[in-house]
Amino acid sequence: MGRKFFVGGNWKCNGTLEEVKKLVGTLNAAEVPSEDVVEVVVSPPFVFLSTVKALLRSDFAVAAQNCWVRKGGAFTGEISVEMLVNLGIPWVILGHSERRLLLNEDKEFVADKVAYALSQGLNVIACVGETLEQREAGDTLNVVSEQTKAIADKVVNWSNIVIAYEPVWAIGTGKVASPAQAQEVHYELRNWLNVNVSPEVAASTRIIYGGSVNAGNCVELAAQPDLDGFLVGGASLKAEFVDIIKSAT
Ligand code: G3P
Repeated sequence: MGRKFFVGGNWKCNGTLEEVKKLVGTLNAAEVPSEDVVEVVVSPPFVFLSTVKALLRSDFAVAAQNCWVRKGGAFTGEISVEMLVNLGIPWVILGHSERRLLLNEDKEFVADKVAYALSQGLNVIACVGETLEQREAGDTLNVVSEQTKAIADKVVNWSNIVIAYEPVWAIGTGKVASPAQAQEVHYELRNWLNVNVSPEVAASTRIIYGGSVNAGNCVELAAQPDLDGFLVGGASLKAEFVDIIKSAT
């Protein structure tokens, strides 16, 4: 089954209203492959979601960077899934390592968020990835499998999930995983899905790579057979993001 290439731009905690509008203008003017070839989703901070959704071209979609774990209510500072649905935001990024590590979101909590977001009709970009220490200890596959298992234990339907493999040591460091390193983990993740979920889910679930992706390294990464796209941080704030979209295979 063909997996449509997916390019996400995670803007993280960046931007002023002026900068965000300028970036949207750049994206709107860009010539990129058609929607049949590549799915593009950009993820601004919460406060800019509605503005970006209103201004962004209709062939690109918008994602939130997080959401509350269950129905909204007395949870000061949180943003509920219901609010995102109400605003017409179709995607949410969950389990980003910055939240796992800096905000102590453990794999069960992330999995609960994934399950709740899916149950309310959102599409989820679920992030997994190992730290440098875990990689050096030979634990990479265990770590990403465990993070994926926590989700698999709570999710039945995988059709609205994209897995983002983001090695922590590659995020924002300029140390991109080599195409072979990325392919190895993507292959093993797909194999894990094959054995533990189903061959159909393994064949159809997109596994995208994130960590220091830029215009210079995206083409070689995109050519890897089990790599179905990117989740881009720093470079998604620049015009260079358009070149990354164009690497769609
Ligand atoms: O979610 C995207 C990400 O964490 C990668 O960030 O800046 O290394 O592209 P960056």
